[in-house]
Amino acid sequence: MPVINRIAEFHSEMTAWRRDIHAHPELLYDVERTAGTVADKLRAFGADEVVTGIGRTGVVGVIRGRNGGAGRVIGLRADMDALPITERTGQPYASTVSGKMHACGHDGHTTMLLGAARYLAETRNFEGTAVVIFQPAEEGGGGGKAMVEDGLMDRFGISEVFGMHNLPGLPLGHFAICEGGIMAASDEFSIEVEGHGGHAAMPHLAADPVITCAHIATALQSLVSRNIDPIRSAVLSVTTLNAGTAFNVIPRTARMGGTVRTLDEAVRDQMEEGITRVATGIAQGFGAVAHVTYRRGYPVTVNAPAQTAFAAEIAAEVAGTAHVDAQADPTMGGEDFAYMLNARPGAYIFIGNGESTELHTDTYDFNDEALPIGASYWVRLAERALAPA
Ligand code: NI
Repeated sequence: MPVINRIAEFHSEMTAWRRDIHAHPELLYDVERTAGTVADKLRAFGADEVVTGIGRTGVVGVIRGRNGGAGRVIGLRADMDALPITERTGQPYASTVSGKMHACGHDGHTTMLLGAARYLAETRNFEGTAVVIFQPAEEGGGGGKAMVEDGLMDRFGISEVFGMHNLPGLPLGHFAICEGGIMAASDEFSIEVEGHGGHAAMPHLAADPVITCAHIATALQSLVSRNIDPIRSAVLSVTTLNAGTAFNVIPRTARMGGTVRTLDEAVRDQMEEGITRVATGIAQGFGAVAHVTYRRGYPVTVNAPAQTAFAAEIAAEVAGTAHVDAQADPTMGGEDFAYMLNARPGAYIFIGNGESTELHTDTYDFNDEALPIGASYWVRLAERALAPA
C-alpha cells in the first residue's frame, strides 16, 4: 500500500511516541503531560503557531502552506484522553498508572496526527493552511464541544474538519466510512412515577407505581417497533428500575431509566417526544403521575456528503479501492467529534486496527502498524484538499 516513503522512514519514531503516550495515560481534561508532549513536538517540527489551553487542555497547531497559508483552512482532529481501566495487556510499554489505560487507541490517534504534522511542516506541499487539533475529554467529558465553544473554528478560520478512529476487527490497511450518521446520538432518560402508597393487601386504596412502571417499560419498546420508520435506526434500553423496600407495602414512587441511541436528529426528537408521551399517558391511565427527564448527550456524528466522498477517495489512494468500504454500517456508540461536525462540514473515518480485542477492554492495544497508514491518510488529505490551483 502506498504509505508515503518519508513517513515510513519515521515509523519507528512514531512507534516510540505512541508507546510513551500509552505508558502515561491521562483522563478527561487532565491531559497535561500528553498535551505538553504534543505542543513540544509541534514546536520542534516547526509548526507556525502552537496554541495550548483551547477547551481547557486542547492543543492546536497551525501549519501554513508554501504560499504563506492564504486560502482554504482545513482542520484535522485527534483525541488525547484515556479510560479509567486497569491495563492487562502485559506489554513492556503498558500503563504505568493503575486504573488508567489507553483502551480506545487515542494514543495512536494522537501519534498519527503528530506524524502527519511533522511531514506537513517539513514539506509544505500545499497552499492554504492545515490546522491540527488535539482534543481532551472525548470519553464522556465533551472536550470537542469545549474546544468549539472556545472559538476553535472561527479563531483559526477552519472551513472543514476531519476525524479518524481505529476499529478493531477491520483489517489493517483498511478504511471504512459512510455518509450521514456514522456514530449515534447518545442520550439518557429517567422517569419517576408518583402514585399513592398503601397496604399491599389493599391495592384498591393505592395507585401502584410498580405496576405502572412495568407497563411503561413494556410500552416503551413499541416506540422503536411502531413509531420509528423501519428504515431508520433507534435503540431504547431500559437499564434501571427501582422501587419499594418491603414485601407488604405498595410504595409511593418508582423510578426507571435507560439509554437511547439514534442516528438522525429527527428520530432523536421523535424518541424524546415518544418517551414523554407514553410514560405520562400510561401513568395517567393508572392514576399516577410520571415525571420524565430526557438528557441529551453527544449528538449524532454526521458525515457531510462531499467531504465523505473526498475522504473515501483519499483512503483509496492510500489503501487501494478494494480496501475502503465507503458504505460501512454506522455504529451505535457515541463520539464527541459530533460537535465539530455540527460546527463545520467534514467526515469521520474508521481505520483498521486488525484483529485486536475490542475498544474499552483491558487487553486492547492500538496496532503500531497502522501508524504510517493513518499518518499518510492525513497528509494526502491535507495535500489534496489544499492542492495549488
Ligand atoms: Ni475513542
